[in-house]
Amino acid sequence: MSSPLARSRPGIGNKLLAALHQRLSHIHRVQILGESCASLLRAAFEGRPLRGLDVGCGDQQVSRTIAACLPNSRWRACDLYDLPTALEKDPAWGNYRQMADGVLPFADKTFDVVMFCDVLHHVEREKQADLIQEAVRIGNYLLIKDHFALDAYANIMLRLMDLVGNAPYNVRVLATYFTPDRFDALLGVLKLERVSRLHGIDLYRHLPVLQWLISPQWQFIDLLKAPD
Ligand SMILES: C[S@@+](CC[C@H](N)C(=O)[O-])C[C@H]1O[C@@H](n2cnc3c(N)ncnc32)[C@H](O)[C@@H]1O
Repeated sequence: MSSPLARSRPGIGNKLLAALHQRLSHIHRVQILGESCASLLRAAFEGRPLRGLDVGCGDQQVSRTIAACLPNSRWRACDLYDLPTALEKDPAWGNYRQMADGVLPFADKTFDVVMFCDVLHHVEREKQADLIQEAVRIGNYLLIKDHFALDAYANIMLRLMDLVGNAPYNVRVLATYFTPDRFDALLGVLKLERVSRLHGIDLYRHLPVLQWLISPQWQFIDLLKAPD
């Protein structure tokens, strides 16, 4: 991840790791994920104006990439942190609101789409349904990007990648990944209807060794419709 909000851990090692991760992974990741999310939204909304909320926004690069692909979309953003003083006057962060853990500070059905991009696996398993339900309260559709830990190897590798990506920041790594069955069960309980899915997203094809160790099958994006 990359975030100007989460308080960076001190030390040259953390700074170097953040810079390396940014260059080798994050830039490619946000481009591919932003374009992938935009393709699902384009098919569903067919160019109609769209109000979106990026929950757990990090540096907002995913929703900004979506906005670049879908000029008819307007995005707001929230995360767990207060806005650092340095960003208070930055117009690019005027769309940001801090959320309390589990509560999204917006009125019912404010948004067409509420997005969680690699956020839910940072949330305790027993709190995931409540957070998704809170998103249903404020939105008509949900866009969820997360990981499928298909076996023990996937679980270990995803955990390692999460630890490396989040180490420079104080973001908790809980590794509460989904399996396809557990995710479908959650959708059933919350009465969410799948509109479309992208499964098998190759985020690391530019990295010579990692591309063989990391399976695209661990990445999915679902566009879901909330119950009326
Ligand atoms: C891996 S980063 C993803 C950032 C961004 N969405 C992206 O895809 O680049 C996970 C983000 O989730 C946020 N987060 C963690 N727990 C959360 C919670 N309970 N509610 C909302 N956001 C949370 C973190 O602060 C962090 O910004």
